Amino acid sequence: MTADIFDVNKILKKYEYKDSSLIPILQEVQKLNEEKYISEEMAKYIAAEMKISKTRIYEVITFFSALNDKPKGKYFIQLCNSTVCEITDKDLIENALVSELGIQVGETSQDKMFTLEYTPCFGACDVSPAMRVNKVVYGNLTESKIKSIVSKLRGDTHE
Ligand code: FES
Repeated sequence: MTADIFDVNKILKKYEYKDSSLIPILQEVQKLNEEKYISEEMAKYIAAEMKISKTRIYEVITFFSALNDKPKGKYFIQLCNSTVCEITDKDLIENALVSELGIQVGETSQDKMFTLEYTPCFGACDVSPAMRVNKVVYGNLTESKIKSIVSKLRGDTHE
């Protein structure tokens, strides 16, 4: 397990092992993991400690888009695929991302630098098409902006 059990137990205690606190519990546990996900082993541990089923844990992870059951890259790129972004060139932006990153939506690059996923609207419709990288919002995206953003994230000094 990548997260320290001592810290996980502290989180469980803080929320008194309550099922109603499962979302914040999982969010905090996920933050402990550098790869920003809840491993199967961890899901099993939390389920046992909270005396709930592992299925219940996965129901919450699946429902709540900020929770992950697979490791994420250093840069977690979430491309909005809700209506406003969809009609303002989201496909063009998606193609630019796929081409720049060399991965499809739902994948993580081999060097673990990037994960690309869809996300529902996160309130940046006024600057659509939009995406988030970790928690930073990028809007009014164009193909050249994507090239520049990816290049900066890679740490390239030339553009
Ligand atoms: S529809 Fe894309 S941010 Fe709202």
